[in-house]
Amino acid sequence: MILRPAQASDVQALVRLHAAAFDAAWSEADLRGLLEAEGGFGVVAEDGDRALGFILCRAAAGEAEVLTLAVDPAVRRRGCGRALVEVGAAGAQTRGALSLFLEVAADNPAALGLYEAAGFARVGLRRGYYPRPGGPAADALVLARALPPA
Ligand SMILES: CC(C)(COP(=O)(O)OP(=O)(O)OC[C@H]1O[C@@H](n2cnc3c(N)ncnc32)[C@H](O)[C@@H]1OP(=O)(O)O)[C@@H](O)C(=O)NCCC(=O)NCCS
Repeated sequence: MILRPAQASDVQALVRLHAAAFDAAWSEADLRGLLEAEGGFGVVAEDGDRALGFILCRAAAGEAEVLTLAVDPAVRRRGCGRALVEVGAAGAQTRGALSLFLEVAADNPAALGLYEAAGFARVGLRRGYYPRPGGPAADALVLARALPPA
């Protein structure tokens, strides 16, 4: 597995990975817009020419945010998610961020386990943030991790 910066030409692969990971799919335009926005950056994990996962982040004014993170269901639990979080944190640090924030659904044990293992701590709660078909919306936990100065 290698990790490399995401490019505009990756967007179709990112759409596919995102759709396999989340109920609320993001379009090509959504993902391209985030990747190309000021402060936006992404990293793709790949094996040969197959994209296994990606992380999208945004850094601005000394803070950074994980916008999305997805790993192909076929290769989960092999360290890809952890590697993407670490490279995202390093990219945020390089861009001058001192903190990395993210929102995660309270009913997502895999992501909660990953972020806890990666040193994130809870700093906030948004009630009823993620719609859930046929049930009550899930809360979002706001997590943060401090980054050492670059
Ligand atoms: C969350 C996600 C990115 C994890 O990717 P992954 O490649 O499977 O994660 P890793 O193999 O690097 O796991 C690292 C650690 O996270 C935790 N973890 C990962 N999956 C877990 C699970 N299903 N249950 C509990 N803990 C889990 C463990 O601590 C794991 O370390 P271990 O395998 O040594 O026990 C992946 O499950 C995914 O794409 N989920 C759908 C999208 C999503 O929820 N994204 C995050 C939104 S905020």
